[in-house]
Amino acid sequence: MPAEPAAEIRQALFNGRDWITTEEWTDAELDVMLDVASDLKRKFKGRVAHRYLPDQTIFLMFFDKSTRTRNSFEAGITQLGGHGHFLTADAMQVSHGESAKDTGIILSSYGHAIAIRHDLIPGEGNAYMREVARWAEAPVINMQCDIDHPCQTLADLMTIREKRGRSTRALKVAVSWAYAPSYAKPLSVPQGLIMLLPRFGMDVVLAHPPEYNLMPETVAAAERNAARGGGRFRIADNMEEAFRDADVVIPKSWGCLDTMGADPSESLRIAKKYAHWICDAGRMKLARPDVLYMHPLPADRGNEVTDEVIDGPNSVVYAEAENRLHTAKAIMALTMAEQAVEYQPGGAG
Ligand code: CP
Repeated sequence: MPAEPAAEIRQALFNGRDWITTEEWTDAELDVMLDVASDLKRKFKGRVAHRYLPDQTIFLMFFDKSTRTRNSFEAGITQLGGHGHFLTADAMQVSHGESAKDTGIILSSYGHAIAIRHDLIPGEGNAYMREVARWAEAPVINMQCDIDHPCQTLADLMTIREKRGRSTRALKVAVSWAYAPSYAKPLSVPQGLIMLLPRFGMDVVLAHPPEYNLMPETVAAAERNAARGGGRFRIADNMEEAFRDADVVIPKSWGCLDTMGADPSESLRIAKKYAHWICDAGRMKLARPDVLYMHPLPADRGNEVTDEVIDGPNSVVYAEAENRLHTAKAIMALTMAEQAVEYQPGGAG
């Protein structure tokens, strides 16, 4: 019997590139990222060693709390053969005013990448990480800023492809505001989703109450990307319109752009008017029977979503959260490795 032909293997290297928003990466580059993430997922599940970053150090700098992001990066860098330093901004000299320039130059002289979460104050986080990147000798990775959460949206795209196939053209996706009393959540997840998904042909409907506008430049990017990518993008003022016949629903809360930085409690005060913006079984019935319910987590159970929905058969939130590990590893491997990373093409659906 002739031997089975070996599966095609490709190699990729994005060494030294910053990962700040998905806007700076082409569709083809994002396809490679997702193929590498799928390959790393297969290797992780099969307990196949994949130490692409031996002895490398990534600094993980947080201005905000985290469960998934911190732990996917820490576990991920360990599995890649390196080490992550967990840093909180309040325990660093940045809290005494040390500049982004000095922080970038010094941390990058000690290690191989700097990852930053700085997401709560509109106008600050993205600018801060770009200033670090301007001076750092190593790649800078955005673990969530005020504009984008590219690690989350890449994992979301991977999850949609795994569940619905690689061709996502004409899938209808509802990105909706939902009520949450816990805290004024950043705007960067919905902004990142509306910018990214239309590039892959999806028909995205954004729904929110009037006080919860997203940054105009991200809405403009969504419109531009839809026109270029063959997808569609429009805005509705109610959840029902967004949910009707949807293939994917991503309802989550976010704060008010104008007051989020100075007074986050104002977002929560206004939100009380919209406590009926919840993803429940009735609204899920408006969507297609096989609709995917997604949420980046943490979810405000009983407010953003009922237990029945998030624990129900349409929910893919744990697969989505798991994919944060595989995509974080792909981002680190491709931007930090000095030698090309091998992968099998055609992953993620
Ligand atoms: N989705 C997400 O970024 O989760 P964490 O805030 O827990 O990192």
